[in-house]
Amino acid sequence: MKKQWVAILILLIFFSQKSSSQTTIPNRKWWKEAVVYQIYPRSFKDSDGNGIGDLKGIISKLDYIKSLGVNVVWLNPIYSSPNDDNGYDISDYRNIMKEFGTMKDFDELLKGLHQRKIKFVMDLVVNHSSDEHEWFKKSRSSRTNPYRNYYHWWNAERGKPPYRYSQFDINHSAWKYDSLTNAYYLHFFSVKQPDLNWENPQLRNEVYNIMHYWAEKGVDGFRLDAFQFVSKDTSFPPFPKGYEKNFINYHAMVPPIHSYLQEMNNKILSKYNVMSVAEGAGNSFQDAHDLVDEDRNELNMAYAFDAIDIAKPEGYSVLQFKRIFTKWDSAFANKGWLSIFLANHDQARMVSRFGNDSPKFREVSSKMLTTFILTMRGTPYYYNGDELGMTNIGFDKIEDYKDMPTLNEYQYVKNNGGDLQKFMENIKFSCRDNGRTPFQWDSSTNAGFSGGIPWLKVNPNYTTINVAKEEKDANSCLNYFRKAVQLRKNNLVLVYGKYQIVDENNAKVYAYTRELNGKKLLVALNFTQENASFKTSINISKAKILLANYTNPSNNKILKPYEAVVYEIN
Ligand code: NOJ
Repeated sequence: MKKQWVAILILLIFFSQKSSSQTTIPNRKWWKEAVVYQIYPRSFKDSDGNGIGDLKGIISKLDYIKSLGVNVVWLNPIYSSPNDDNGYDISDYRNIMKEFGTMKDFDELLKGLHQRKIKFVMDLVVNHSSDEHEWFKKSRSSRTNPYRNYYHWWNAERGKPPYRYSQFDINHSAWKYDSLTNAYYLHFFSVKQPDLNWENPQLRNEVYNIMHYWAEKGVDGFRLDAFQFVSKDTSFPPFPKGYEKNFINYHAMVPPIHSYLQEMNNKILSKYNVMSVAEGAGNSFQDAHDLVDEDRNELNMAYAFDAIDIAKPEGYSVLQFKRIFTKWDSAFANKGWLSIFLANHDQARMVSRFGNDSPKFREVSSKMLTTFILTMRGTPYYYNGDELGMTNIGFDKIEDYKDMPTLNEYQYVKNNGGDLQKFMENIKFSCRDNGRTPFQWDSSTNAGFSGGIPWLKVNPNYTTINVAKEEKDANSCLNYFRKAVQLRKNNLVLVYGKYQIVDENNAKVYAYTRELNGKKLLVALNFTQENASFKTSINISKAKILLANYTNPSNNKILKPYEAVVYEIN
């Protein structure tokens, strides 16, 4: 009898626990609970001294990556590429770029990550290929080649094609004339990145086969580059003059896109436990929901640029920043899932854009931004080097820049009599080369990145900002990042909890609560270099402090410059 009661009790406990975790946190998913660390392979670690980061270099740093606590790594493209756009122009989707290593290196990297319980997300660039891809070579060879229809062609006897804007082209034109067949091909990005024709089912199948190949190898997810642009109205209607100022309204989310995604989901994504994230979320919340709502069977998440775009050389409005994140959170509170990020390889450095990279405030403001990213709802994407508080290099001379679209735009401004001085000022702050300077490992030559000449100059501040130095300092940005990651991993409230903004109209402090199953945290972040107070009826004087970027954190609602505190309220 006694034994029976014990058994019943155990069963009751088991079922109550099971049902409470299931009912109280519906729809738990590994990719919602992930912290994604983005590695820019070209700049992370060079193992063979050619000045270019590579896979073996990343392999040599796997324990470092593990030590961060992150559980997903996203690598920018590593496929064969002539590197017009640093790997975003792929010439063979089933091979590794020779500068980065071999397929054997890739297999070893994947194994090393998995051994450390870190998942791997592959960048998939299929809005366009390289013009050196076999498909394109065949496609351009004749009008009747079976691959002709893998790309978008406009025969010249029809006259000039209607203007399409290219962000990367030296003349801003997305049509390039090719005399070989007397026709124009479409390239939303550079002339060496012809757009693939998604309207052709054969092309779509090629892409699914590529995804199948990598999923079979064991990759855990795909980041779909520039995906919002894949579908096109192939009648190419004329667009109004000046449309390029809002080109996303015209180029993104052309209707068949959702049927393509459902097809991809059906053929690949649903067959593997892989995560999927699209670059770009269209023009509205509706567009974003249409991509990511679970019952639509398309993608897991997308990332939107509303917030990331507001940082300008003259500063940005903290109120606007708060409004954007609050609006996006509320639009996805009940359905869909978001990505949270403040930087990536297409942006200048997080601390230089959203914080303050002066020696006085660099560390504290960088930690404050880290706190933000890791305490919001949505999957955090964190860019390599930000954990050290790496800053913009801010080149003065155009010769120092390597970024193809920046160099093309320089020529465009010059050719069109534009203001080159203003252009130079702008890129000093915003050019993506700022975020691509070599990773700063230690204070040896080239920051320990390479024994050769780095492909892009190393930021001279590497002697003070580097891993070796920060490892030794318990209060470094690096160790703060580790703590913030652990905090998120140990508190599901930070992943799934309800978000509620506090003191909404405060122009200096961004404060919000996160709440789940009776647990409530308050996050208070001062986004300015002055002391700033905030108002709330929540009593924080006795609250437990879970994370703070000052050794004497505030408990009186007055925050020191760039102070960040996470309080446990109950
Ligand atoms: C978006 C990528 O993030 C960027 O780096 C690239 O240049 C363009 N897509 C073109 O592929």
